Amino acid sequence: MYVSHIKVRNWRNFPRIDADLRERQFVVGPNASGKSNLMDVFRFLRDIAKIEGGGLQKAVADRGGMTKIRNLAARRDPDIAIEVRFSDPADGHETWRYELGLKQQARGNRHTLITLERVIRDEAVILERPNEDDREDIVRLTQTYLEQITANRDFRDIARFFQAITYHHLVPSLLRHTDLIGGQTLEGDPYGQDFLDRIAREHDRTRKARLSRIEEVLKLAVPRLEQLEFVRDRETGRPHLQALYAHWRPRAGIQREDQFSDGTLRLIGMLWALLEGDSLLLLEEPELCLHSGIVNRLAVLILRMQRNAGRQVLISTHSAALLSDPGIEREEVLLLKPVHEGSDAEMAEDVRDALLLLERDIAPDRAPSERTLDISPDQLSLFK
Ligand SMILES: Nc1ncnc2c1ncn2[C@@H]1O[C@H](COP(=O)(O)OP(=O)(O)O)[C@@H](O)[C@H]1O
Ligand SMILES: [Mg+2]
Repeated sequence: MYVSHIKVRNWRNFPRIDADLRERQFVVGPNASGKSNLMDVFRFLRDIAKIEGGGLQKAVADRGGMTKIRNLAARRDPDIAIEVRFSDPADGHETWRYELGLKQQARGNRHTLITLERVIRDEAVILERPNEDDREDIVRLTQTYLEQITANRDFRDIARFFQAITYHHLVPSLLRHTDLIGGQTLEGDPYGQDFLDRIAREHDRTRKARLSRIEEVLKLAVPRLEQLEFVRDRETGRPHLQALYAHWRPRAGIQREDQFSDGTLRLIGMLWALLEGDSLLLLEEPELCLHSGIVNRLAVLILRMQRNAGRQVLISTHSAALLSDPGIEREEVLLLKPVHEGSDAEMAEDVRDALLLLERDIAPDRAPSERTLDISPDQLSLFK
């Protein structure tokens, strides 16, 4: 199943969103138009549904309370509403719908209260709150059924889907210096600090299969790359990635991940994430650190990986080069346009709309390098 529609009201800088989503969906907008805020709707649902340390009150508190997540301009109708529809990728018919309405308790401890929680399966309503129990005991409205194992039994598919949503925004220097920095890794490892260990923990066969898929795709972007493999340091036992690429001196072309460029690391991390699960993947600005010649092909690389893994991916981007791929359909592009008191989200009439929207946003001093898109293949190298 995949998320085929999202509807929200009063979420952060969006007075409303009402948009179809595809299995590969680009979310395009200038700086501060709400790309990360849109992704946060899904992270919020994940945080409610997750088994350890989840729940509505915590998900709200972690974001600084209702006043931070509710649209600042919301006055007369201040409730937050979120609706997610799921469809079957094979035939597109809608399978599930989950709706959640929230408000802040007017007095007392200012808890977040549920004004609506509804689950629809194949057009039949299987949960509708507030219900009798809630009316008897109002405190129940501080918890969703989604977060309660005993209560979400009839819609476990939705709970599992939300739990497995992942957010990916690998920060190369955190990965490289993870041993030195030490410290905490956030849940789900969004910044890739734990990336090598995650690879190491994978079953041998799965790891091999995934790395060989990644290697195949990397070769499309890096002409001289011949092999990507997982190794362990002989002395310390620490896991590493090693790339072998053609070099005029034999064995000279071996590099470990600490020598990869930022772009290579981000690309490998992104491809791995696409293979790592079957729920929604949130990819935050995958173009960062990548050469524009590779950014041009990123849309295709993602598509190739997706065909294999079947994972839905929401890609926030700020890059005209990424959208320059002629294979991108207009339904795959959601435009975030700043309007009075927030942003509007709408499907692109034409992918060129997205390019225009971004063009207006490119600072003049950055424009020339952003536009040097035509380079020959052998200039393309992910390695510095
Ligand atoms: N509750 C809110 N009401 C209105 N605007 C908000 C709210 N929360 C955040 N914002 C605004 O959203 C914008 C940031 O959006 P963000 O998703 O980070 O943008 P992007 O990822 O596209 O750069 C900021 O301008 C911020 O002030
Ligand atoms: Mg952002």
